[in-house]
Amino acid sequence: MTHMALEMSESLEERCNRILRDMEGSLTARDRVGIQDFVLLDAYTSESAVLDNLRKRFNENLIYTYIGTLLVSVNPYKELGIYTKKQMDIYMGVNFFELPPHIYALADNVYRTMLTETNNHFILISGESGAGKTEASKKILQFYAVSCPSTKLLDNVRDRLLLSNPVLEAFGNAKTLKNDNSSRFGKYMDIQFDHMGGAVGGHILSYLLEKSRVVHQNHGERSFHIFYQLVEGGEEDLLRWLGLERNCQRYSYLVQVGEGECAKVSSVNDKSDWKTVRKALSVIEFSESNIESLFAIIASVLHLGNVTFVADSQGYATLNNSPEIHWLSKLLGIPAQVIQVGLTHRKIEARSEEVLSPFTVDQAVYAKDALAKAIYGRTFTWLVNELNESLANKDSSRKTVIGLLDIYGFEVFSVNSFEQFCINYCNEKLQQLFIQLTLKSEQEEYEMEGIEWESVPYFNNKIICDLVEEKFKGIISVLDEECLRPGEATDMTFLEKLEEKMGGHPHFVTHKLADQKTRKTLERGDFRLLHYAGEVTYSVVGFLDKNNDLLYRNIKEVMRQSKNAIVKHCFPSTEPDSKKRPETVATQFKSSLVGLTEILMSKEPWYVRCMKPNEGKQPGLFDDVLVRHQVKYLGLMEHLRVRRAGFAYRRRYEIFLQRYKPLCPDTWPNWKGTAAEGVECLVKHLGYKPDEYKMGRTKIFIRHPRTLFATEDAFEVCKHELATRIQAKYKGYRVKGDYMRQRQAATKIETCWRGMKARREREKRAWAVKVIKRFIKGFMTRNQPACVDNTEYLAFVRQNYLTRLKENLPKTVVDKNTWLTPPPIMQEASQMLRKLYTRHMVRRYVQGIMTERKAQLQIKGLTSSIFKGTKENYPHSVGIPFVDTRISEEDIHIKVYQMIRQERIKYSVPVVKYDRNGFRPRFRQLIYTGSAAYLVEEAKIKQRVEFNNLKGVSVSTLSDNFLILHVQCEDIKQKGDLVLQCDYLFEALTKLCLVANKHNFIKVVQGSVKFDIQPGREGFVDFKSGQETMIYRAKNGHLMVESTRTKSRAMIQN
Ligand SMILES: Nc1ncnc2c1ncn2[C@@H]1O[C@H](COP(=O)(O)OP(=O)(O)O)[C@@H](O)[C@H]1O
Ligand SMILES: [Mg+2]
Repeated sequence: MTHMALEMSESLEERCNRILRDMEGSLTARDRVGIQDFVLLDAYTSESAVLDNLRKRFNENLIYTYIGTLLVSVNPYKELGIYTKKQMDIYMGVNFFELPPHIYALADNVYRTMLTETNNHFILISGESGAGKTEASKKILQFYAVSCPSTKLLDNVRDRLLLSNPVLEAFGNAKTLKNDNSSRFGKYMDIQFDHMGGAVGGHILSYLLEKSRVVHQNHGERSFHIFYQLVEGGEEDLLRWLGLERNCQRYSYLVQVGEGECAKVSSVNDKSDWKTVRKALSVIEFSESNIESLFAIIASVLHLGNVTFVADSQGYATLNNSPEIHWLSKLLGIPAQVIQVGLTHRKIEARSEEVLSPFTVDQAVYAKDALAKAIYGRTFTWLVNELNESLANKDSSRKTVIGLLDIYGFEVFSVNSFEQFCINYCNEKLQQLFIQLTLKSEQEEYEMEGIEWESVPYFNNKIICDLVEEKFKGIISVLDEECLRPGEATDMTFLEKLEEKMGGHPHFVTHKLADQKTRKTLERGDFRLLHYAGEVTYSVVGFLDKNNDLLYRNIKEVMRQSKNAIVKHCFPSTEPDSKKRPETVATQFKSSLVGLTEILMSKEPWYVRCMKPNEGKQPGLFDDVLVRHQVKYLGLMEHLRVRRAGFAYRRRYEIFLQRYKPLCPDTWPNWKGTAAEGVECLVKHLGYKPDEYKMGRTKIFIRHPRTLFATEDAFEVCKHELATRIQAKYKGYRVKGDYMRQRQAATKIETCWRGMKARREREKRAWAVKVIKRFIKGFMTRNQPACVDNTEYLAFVRQNYLTRLKENLPKTVVDKNTWLTPPPIMQEASQMLRKLYTRHMVRRYVQGIMTERKAQLQIKGLTSSIFKGTKENYPHSVGIPFVDTRISEEDIHIKVYQMIRQERIKYSVPVVKYDRNGFRPRFRQLIYTGSAAYLVEEAKIKQRVEFNNLKGVSVSTLSDNFLILHVQCEDIKQKGDLVLQCDYLFEALTKLCLVANKHNFIKVVQGSVKFDIQPGREGFVDFKSGQETMIYRAKNGHLMVESTRTKSRAMIQN
C-alpha cells in the first residue's frame, strides 16, 4: 500500500524513468513485436520506422498492424492457424483495441458499428497482386458467415454469398507470375444485413476484367481457371458434347505463343476446383440449360482459338471448313457459313450501301481474338448479373450494407501499359476518396468534440485525378479524342497530343518535356505520371487499340443470331450499332469509377492494406525494398500522416478512465463524478503537460504516443501490483470463506457428536436406572417364588454365583473347605455341583495317579474305613505312606525264615510285646505269612496265630499304639491274646486285614479292653489320655496305657 502511494506521488517523468529501469522486460517485448498501431509510432513520418515495425511483427508472425482503424496486412504465405472458429469467437463483439490486430477485429468492428449506427459501410481492400486482398475479403465473408445470426433462410443466403466466390474466381481469376490465383477484375460486393444483423442478400459489381488474357498470356501465366477446370475436370459426356479433348495443350488460347505448353500450377487443383464450381453453380441455382450454355461458350472460345486462316491468292483470309467451325456452329447455334463469313469479313458502309470487305489474315486473327475476348467478357458480365440475381434480397425493407472492395492496388512494372494506367488511376481515385473521407471524419470529430481544427500538411492528389479525368482536358479525354478522330491516329500522335495539352503540368513528364536529367530515364514513346504514391512511366504502345476494344459490327450481328441463350443475351439487338461508337474502355472505366466513388462516398470507410513481403511467395522472407515500395505505393505514410494530424490517440473518457483509473488514488477503485472529470483528475495526477492533451466533449485527445506509452507502462506495472493485491484479497477471502465453512462444519460435527454422545449417555442412564430398579426389585423379591420381578435378578445371582464359583473352586481333592457359600436359591445346585465337582476332581485325581500309589491308596482307603473318626491318632498316620515291610527278609532270623518260608512272608514289623501276666515289654518281630501271624524273638517263634483263629483285634480310640489280638483259644495250653505295641499300628493292622482277608474284625474300643491271658483267665488293658505317654501296671492289675492328646481334634473329625 505504501509502495503504491509512493508511486502515485511520483511525477510522470520519474515514473517513466523508473519504468524504463524496472520494466525493461516489457519494453523489450515491445521492441520485439513492435507496436500494434502505427499511430502510436513516435517517428510517424519515417518510412524506415514504419518498415522496422512491420518487419519486427512479421518476423513474429504478426501480420496485422493498425493505423488507427486501418488494417495493414502482410501476406505470410503460410497457414498461421489464426482463422479458426475459435479465433472468430474470440474476436466476436470485442472492443476493437482490446485484442491484437486481426482482420476479424476489423470485420467485427464494422459489423457492430453498422448495427449500432444503422448506417452503411465499406471495407476497401487494396494492395499489389498477390498481397492477399482476395484472401482478406474471403476471410471477412467467412467471419460474417459464422458470426451473423443463422436461420434456414439466412443460411441459404450465406451459402450463396460464400459460393459466389469460387464461381467468380473460376471465371475471373488466373495464374499470373505474381499470384497463382490472381483476380483479373475489380470486385465490389455489397453484403446486405437486416436490422437484426442477419445477412439477407448481396450484390456484386465487377470492374475492368482483363479480357486480353483470353487470347494471350505472358510466359508462365495462364488463362482464366475455368478453361483448365473444364478440360481437366469436365465429365466425359460433357467434353464429348462440347467437342473437347481432355488435353489443354490442344488449345492454342491456352498455350503461350512459341511454347506449345501450358503453364503448370502446383497450388491449383483444377479437377477438384471444377467440382466445387459445378456444385456452387447448382447451389446458386443456375438452371441446367444455362449451365450448358455457359460451358458451350467456354468451349466455343477454345474452338475459336484453334481457328486458323490462310491467305488466298489475293492475300485475303480464308477459312477451311475446319472442325472448329463445325463445333462453333453447333455450340453457338449459328450456321457455319455465317460464322465463316463473319470471321473473314467486315461490313463497311459505302454511302447507303453496306458491303462486305474481306480481311487480310492478320485482320482476321485480330477480329477473331476480339470476338473471343468480347464473348468471354460479356459472358463474365452476364455471370455477375446472374449471381446478383441469385443473391438479391427479395425483401425490400430497409437494409444496411457492408461493401467489400477487392480491387487492384497500385501497379508499377518495368513496362506499364493501358491496364496499369487504368489501375493506377483507380488508385488515385480511391486515395482521393480516402483523403476526403478521412479528413472529413477527422474534422467532423474535432468539431464534434469541440476541439480546434489544426490543419496538417498532407498531399492532396486531386490534381492528379484531374490530370487524368478532367473533361476535355484530362488524359482520358485526349485518348478518346484520338481514338475517335478521323484520320491516321496512332499511339504516338496520342502522345504528342498529350505533350501539347499537359505540357507544364507538375505531375506529367515525357521525353520531350523532361529536363536533361529526367530525359535519360524516359523513352520516346513514354509518358510519366507523378502519382501520389510515386512515379510511373507508361508506354503509349497499345493505348488506342485497348481503349477502342473494337469489335466489328457484323460479327456482333452474327452473334445476335446465336441460339445459345447467354450469347443471345450478351449481344442484344438493342445494342447501339456502329453509327454511334460505343464508349471507350477508359471512359467506361472512368464512369464506373465515378459510380463506385458515389457508392463509397455514401458509406463509412474502413481500410485493409495488403502487402507482399517478397516476390517469391515465400514464407518468412521480408524483402525490405519491396515492402518499402509498397508502404509508399499503398499510401500508408499519407494515411498515417492524415490520421496523426493533431493527435495520435483519442479515446472515449469512459474507456480511458476504466483502463487507467488504477494509476490515481482518487480514481481508484471508483470515480464518483463524470468520466471526463475523472480523466482530468487522472491526467493531472499523471503529470500530463497542457499541450500534450486536449479534453474533447466525449474523448480525450493525446498528442504524442510517448505520453500514452508512459501511461500504459505505468499501468503495466500497476496492473501487476493490483493483480497481486486483488489476488491476495481474493485468496484471503477464499481462505476465510473456506475457514468459516470448515469451522461451521466442525461445530456442526461437534454438535452432532456431542448430541449423539449425550443421547447415548441418557439412554445408558435410563437403561441403568431400569436395570438397577429391576435389580433392587429382584433383590427384594429374591426369596419369593420365581416371578417377573425376580427372574432376572435370580438369573443374575445364579450366573454371578456360578462365575464366582468357577474362579474359586477347590484346587485339590483334599481341600474340603474351599467352596463358595451359595445364595439360598443355589443351595441345592451348589450341593450337586460340589458333589459333581468333587467327583470330577477325584476322577481326575484318580486318573492321574500311578498303579503303586493306587494300591497304596486303596490300602489307605481300607485303613481309613476302619479308623477314620474312631482312633485319635489316625489322622497322623494318613500322611505316612505304608511300605511293603518294615523288616527285610535278611533281618529275619534264618531259622525262622526257613520255617515259615513256604507260607510266604507277607509283612514284618517290629513290635513290643507286653507279657500277659507281668506286662513286661519285650521286643519282638511280628511277621505275617499267607496263613498266620508269627511273633518271633530272634530264632524262636514265640507264638503262631492262625488267621482262622484270630477272633479280632482291639485298639483304643486314643492316640496310643496298642493293639490286642484276640485269639481263638480252646486249648488251655495255648497262649492267650497278644498285647502289642507297634509304631506302625495302622500299617500293621491294615496289612493284617488284607493278609488275613478279614475286614471287620478290628474293634476300636473306648476305655478298656478285656483280653484272655489264657483261656478262662482275663486281663485288661485300660486306655486313657494324659499329660504324657505312660505305660504301667496299674494297681488294679490292669495295664494302663496313658497317651497324650492329639492336638487337632478337628483333623480327626475330618
Ligand atoms: N492471410 C493469409 N494467410 C496465408 N496465406 C495468404 C494470406 N493471404 C494471402 N495468402 C496467400 O497469398 C496468395 C495470394 O493471395 P490473394 O488474396 O489471391 O492475393 P491478391 O488478391 O491480393 O492478388 C493466396 O493464394 C495465399 O496463398
Ligand atoms: Mg485477388
